[in-house]
Amino acid sequence: MPRTEFIATGFYVPPRVVSNDDLARLMDTTDEWITQRTGIKERHWVEPGTTCSSLAAEATRMALQRAGLQATDLDCIVFATASPDHFFPGNGVFLQRMLGVTDIPALDVRNQCTGFVYGLSVADAWIRCGQYKRVLLVGAEIQSPGLDPTTAGRDTAVIFGDGAGVAILGPTDDAQRGVLSTHLFSDGRQAEKLWMDGPGLSHVPWISADMLANGKARIQMEGREVFKSAITKMPESVQQALALHGLTIADIKLLIAHQANLRISEMVQKQLGLRDDQVFNNIQRYGNTTAASIPIALHEALELGRLSRGDLLILTAFGSGFTWGSAAIRW
Ligand SMILES: CC(C)(COP(=O)(O)OP(=O)(O)OC[C@H]1O[C@@H](n2cnc3c(N)ncnc32)[C@H](O)[C@@H]1OP(=O)(O)O)[C@@H](O)C(=O)NCCC(=O)NCCS
Repeated sequence: MPRTEFIATGFYVPPRVVSNDDLARLMDTTDEWITQRTGIKERHWVEPGTTCSSLAAEATRMALQRAGLQATDLDCIVFATASPDHFFPGNGVFLQRMLGVTDIPALDVRNQCTGFVYGLSVADAWIRCGQYKRVLLVGAEIQSPGLDPTTAGRDTAVIFGDGAGVAILGPTDDAQRGVLSTHLFSDGRQAEKLWMDGPGLSHVPWISADMLANGKARIQMEGREVFKSAITKMPESVQQALALHGLTIADIKLLIAHQANLRISEMVQKQLGLRDDQVFNNIQRYGNTTAASIPIALHEALELGRLSRGDLLILTAFGSGFTWGSAAIRW
């Protein structure tokens, strides 16, 4: 059975940079508060009219070019996002249309910040069993149009950013390399601690002025609960991945954790006992880009030469659901 290797990565963020000082002009917040609590200095927000699938298309074009492939060489799309362009169909088919390919499957993954790791798990299974050979795995988000950029929404408005990261995955016969395992978890008892209640068909009517006025169509978050669970569940899932393969913390060349908040990443690093050179963070420049954060960070880490063939890469994510998980990859 082959293993799954990363053939190429790509990323794209919209050109508009929004600094903490820019936000301080819109709401009662400060650069100091945001930096101290989240580590974020700036994020990219789309201009009105830009869609999540169009960000993904830009990132895909970069990855295809790096892989030396055409869009028609892809035989499957797995699209992870928490910010779909439409209620349905999902973003996968819109991306497919933009890429000018037809007939290949497009799977939409709705696991929010953990979406890229969930998507990797599915893509890896398909590649290993031989069903598909060139899988485009996407994590893309435009959170900014859904944020409340006033003081009422400041707890979430300062955190989230827009962007897309992709990976083209395929089989390798090198038994020493590739995705070693993925580890997925969820706990629906915590669903309302980080969620967007509406629009939703559990509501009658399914969308209403009342829902919009009461912030039910925006991200609602119990920040401290999210923080506590994230710093517990991500390290646990990393340890589970290592244990399965008889590996230790010392074997990790690079850990890329979902860029939720720099303080969360620092706590995860501390709990696992990782040195600074074993982790990569870029939330300072992008904010929390939900499902896009891991592939954007992976792309940048590769650009900086942080991974060489044979290195052990660990991914870990946590998000709404709650969902969380990890992946162990021999680069
Ligand atoms: C959101 C988060 C930074 C808030 O930090 P916190 O220390 O928990 O702060 P609290 O929510 O207790 O709020 C403390 C005060 O700061 C205020 N505050 C909230 N957002 C603010 C902002 N952007 N600027 C200034 N003040 C703010 C609150 O209103 C509160 O004021 P009060 O004491 O007068 O009521 C923190 O909880 C967090 O990082 N949680 C995880 C979020 C996350 O990662 N989400 C994505 C997961 S995938």
